Amino acid sequence: MNKSELFSSISNDLKSRLHLLEDKPEETIESTLKTLWLTAAGIPVSAEGSIKLSIPDLTEKQIENLHQLIELRLNNTPLAHITNRQSFMGIELLSDRRALIPRKETELLGRKALELSNSIVKSKGRIKLIDVCCGSGNLGIAIAHLNPNCIVFSTDISQEAVELTQDNINFLNLNQRVQVKQGDLLSVFETDEYYEKTDLIICNPPYIQSSKVQKMDSEIASNEPALAFDGGMLGIKIIQKLISEAPKFLTSEGWLIFEVGAGQGNFITQLCERSQLYQLIESVSDDSGTARVILAQKIRPSNSQT
Ligand SMILES: C[S@@+](CC[C@H](N)C(=O)[O-])C[C@H]1O[C@@H](n2cnc3c(N)ncnc32)[C@H](O)[C@@H]1O
Repeated sequence: MNKSELFSSISNDLKSRLHLLEDKPEETIESTLKTLWLTAAGIPVSAEGSIKLSIPDLTEKQIENLHQLIELRLNNTPLAHITNRQSFMGIELLSDRRALIPRKETELLGRKALELSNSIVKSKGRIKLIDVCCGSGNLGIAIAHLNPNCIVFSTDISQEAVELTQDNINFLNLNQRVQVKQGDLLSVFETDEYYEKTDLIICNPPYIQSSKVQKMDSEIASNEPALAFDGGMLGIKIIQKLISEAPKFLTSEGWLIFEVGAGQGNFITQLCERSQLYQLIESVSDDSGTARVILAQKIRPSNSQT
């Protein structure tokens, strides 16, 4: 069997056997097979990264390896855990069981935060950003990678997530501009060094109701940390704390920008308004018109000169 015959025969088989998840739209039959093929050939790559590459010829040993990887995938191991790669905002990152696999939908928050960081750099020359609930480090690292005038402090309550973030910082050679520390929400920044010094706080918090976390698809529930999803009884426990704690760390007119679950947008906007801590509150919707990102600009102190 030549290369293309083998590819289409495996593809046909996968059509009836592979379960694809809605929240990983980049994973199709074709991208999954290409990703596993390249990985078997010694080129670990994400599903998105595989699109740009062509598949090489495989040796007998590599074909055997490909079949083993396919079995792993069919047995519910996430693709990103088999390849140890996931793409985020076009950047290849390391991914494994230690933290949530970055989702495509979170790029809406990433792009908005990058846009804001670029406009702050235009007026200030440089920007300080905190990425809280950093997981694998994807958001802060992508922004630091794409905006060379950005300094990032990342934090997560999970020590394993912090270690994966550190691996990603090393992977992209960003040690000079990205640091990561373990802690509960913004607790590691409770010093004068950080009060009112951050231009942008970004966060993709856990926002799923506790009762729904165990009912998630088994591929997710058995391979990704529950801590990454569980937002308490109503799903908004972390978001509520963030809204009240962020201003202490933000510069005058600094921004808090975070992801919310589908259907949470209106309520969270009201929470920001009721807090009276923000002067401007906006939401950004995805392609289906659902609000998925909230931006809130810290209220200017009443004694401010400008
Ligand atoms: C939805 S995941 C987001 C991960 C990553 N930022 C992303 O976009 O893929 C939420 C993260 O919040 C972390 N987390 C949960 N509770 C936290 C807390 N109280 N303080 C800091 N991080 C927390 C989890 O460990 C998890 O890594």
